[in-house]
Amino acid sequence: FETIPTAPPDSILGLTEAFKADANPEKINLGVGVYKDAQGRTPVLASVKEAEQRILAGQASKSYLPIDGAPEYAQQVRDMLFGDRHPLAASPRTRTVHTPGGTGALRVAGDLLHTQLPGATLWLSDPTWANHPAIFEAAGVATKTFPYFDKASNGLAFDAMLDALRKIPAGDAVLLHACCHNPTGVDPTPEQWRAIAKLLAERRLLPLVDFAYQGFGQGLDEDAAGLRAICDAVDELLICSSFSKNFGLYNERVGALTIVGATPDAAEAALSQVKVCVRRSYSNPPAHGAMIVTTILGDAGLQKQWQAELAAMRDRINGMRRLFAASLDKRRVALGGSDNSFITRQNGMFSFSGLNKQQVERLRSEYAIYIVGSGRISVAGMTEANMDRLCDAIAAVVK
Ligand code: LMR
Repeated sequence: FETIPTAPPDSILGLTEAFKADANPEKINLGVGVYKDAQGRTPVLASVKEAEQRILAGQASKSYLPIDGAPEYAQQVRDMLFGDRHPLAASPRTRTVHTPGGTGALRVAGDLLHTQLPGATLWLSDPTWANHPAIFEAAGVATKTFPYFDKASNGLAFDAMLDALRKIPAGDAVLLHACCHNPTGVDPTPEQWRAIAKLLAERRLLPLVDFAYQGFGQGLDEDAAGLRAICDAVDELLICSSFSKNFGLYNERVGALTIVGATPDAAEAALSQVKVCVRRSYSNPPAHGAMIVTTILGDAGLQKQWQAELAAMRDRINGMRRLFAASLDKRRVALGGSDNSFITRQNGMFSFSGLNKQQVERLRSEYAIYIVGSGRISVAGMTEANMDRLCDAIAAVVK
């Protein structure tokens, strides 16, 4: 392997490796999007622990799952995405494949695009999750970008986005973050979603919806408003979803690729091709995480307990947003140009802070504070205990 050049560390997971190696006892990791509680721990949810006990007690076999996973899991995924009374939840036009995490779903979607729609370009928001272009490049799918973030207002560049979408050739695919846009935290309003959905239909573009944070924005149903608006407007789409964040099942790798076809036959054909891609890649999915999700969502008591745990995670993050903005205000630091109120308007785990590469680098080298190079800060890793140190360091690097 002497001729193999060393690859650079991953821009997000590589930070965790560097953080672990840092000897500074006051170090703070606000890189990767992983929820931490007020004590800085990433707990196993109580509903998950209970479900695991039930699974262990009742498990009779560890034989392979089907290539596309268990049908009960697929149904639970659809009920959560669409709402259990939505016609698509039980329609033969809708097929779901259990994948190893949301990343696995994206890669399988990439394999499907590459093998079955080889001329299609995939359009990504600028900016987007750092792994998106890499996943699709690895699958052999060409990518381009459309404007998304307006730096001046720290909001959505809605008009520029729509103008760009209008110019995309029919038949291309467009990746949209269903909620809690990663990295900006800026989401379209329900009205803007309807306009986007109408345009996708008019232009005959294939939506690929990445839904990794359902429940971390406003709530499980509220966060699905964009997806459901798209489903009302178009008759074909792909959805990549994940239970890493909302069930805290990060290392169980539990996600799904859902295909909505214009007809049951079209959905069935797409599913058959997805199964070919899966068989050639990882053969069939890992069972345990999906069993946890199925057990919780299939039991009214556990489901209620999980929803309360999810709401508590969301509320803690929103509390940290307010404290972060107030702590910066107190130090007379305005990351948004004039103030910090934009931080409290962003959704999900991240704050797109506006800090530049040099400032991010100084936070790391001088203060052992780890955030992503784009200036994305994981609010989910902030605590009352690390807030003053964080804001003092930010004040020092921006002045
Ligand atoms: C993130 O953006 O931090 C998460 O989605 C975790 C990851 O795999 O990058």
